Amino acid sequence: MNFQWYPGHMTKAKRQMQEDIKLIDLVIELVDARIPLSSRNPDIDELGKNKSRLILLNKADLADESKNKVWKAYFQNQGFFVVELDARKRNSMKIIQDTIMESCKAKIERDRKRGIKNRPIRAMVVGIPNVGKSTFINTFAGKAVARTGNKPGVTKGKQWIRLNKNVELLDTPGILWPKFDDQAVGMRLAFIGSMNDNLLNIDELSLELIRYLTENYPGVLAERYSIREMLSDADDGSEQMEKTDAPKEIDEKRNDVSAEQEHSSDIMKEPVKILEEIAVSRNCIRTGGELDYSKAAALLLDDFRSGRLGRITLEVPV
Ligand code: G4P
Repeated sequence: MNFQWYPGHMTKAKRQMQEDIKLIDLVIELVDARIPLSSRNPDIDELGKNKSRLILLNKADLADESKNKVWKAYFQNQGFFVVELDARKRNSMKIIQDTIMESCKAKIERDRKRGIKNRPIRAMVVGIPNVGKSTFINTFAGKAVARTGNKPGVTKGKQWIRLNKNVELLDTPGILWPKFDDQAVGMRLAFIGSMNDNLLNIDELSLELIRYLTENYPGVLAERYSIREMLSDADDGSEQMEKTDAPKEIDEKRNDVSAEQEHSSDIMKEPVKILEEIAVSRNCIRTGGELDYSKAAALLLDDFRSGRLGRITLEVPV
């Protein structure tokens, strides 16, 4: 499967961001906690150099808790401030506020030395489409804040949201596009629904997801769809030997066969077989009685994307 990104007004957006970034002290970059690297556009590092940097591991509620910690440490080691986040909830906003102040300590100190008091920190939210930028801005800004409008001479044409006396947020987020030569990155973006499903082969995508899940989160599919992920003795076609009073050599042979059978239940079923079982389990059947693999594939992807398969992370730091 070949993943292509159709960037629309990419160049224009990038130029806009280059302009906007001149106005701010802090870049608040949202990434998807399920694919923190694949959902970044590395251009932001060049664009945001000399700025304070905060990474929000957003949709952390959908990602594996232990992996969230690993990713947090990973980005902190690279000098970023990091907060795990569910942007729909207000409960992380105090931590974010505190982290913003912490990340801009040097600027605040510089201002203080120059006798400038109470100049708010100016921040801009950036990230790839669908990562949660608008949700975050709405939750963080809440209803109470005033949109400050244009600031003549400084920010012509820009809308700022005054969050409190310390922080102002540029009203419109900066949209970055994912960047990949690596098809595995494209596939991860497709898994989380950041690519247009109409341009993808959903059946193949679902088989790749099944492969990943059975290897990395064994048991998740079995539990959700009441199926078996492993080949059972019954599946491998060999018949059970009856217990008899057989001579020793036959007993030994039986033991060999049992060992083999035991081994067979350690073997994962082919992804297509698992998709088939999901189709059966969820009654995805066409008129005429044929299994509807595409319906099962769409259902599986939807269950994954909405967190119904549990908290799952699709990549770990390399
Ligand atoms: P964007 O501005 O970066 O493009 O993203 P936006 O805020 O529109 O968010 C995209 C979708 O992601 C929204 O779902 C939003 O509710 C959801 N979302 C944002 N942050 C979080 C989070 O931390 N956790 C979870 N679980 N979901 C989050 P939506 O409007 O329902 O769109 P969709 O689900 O129909 O695609």
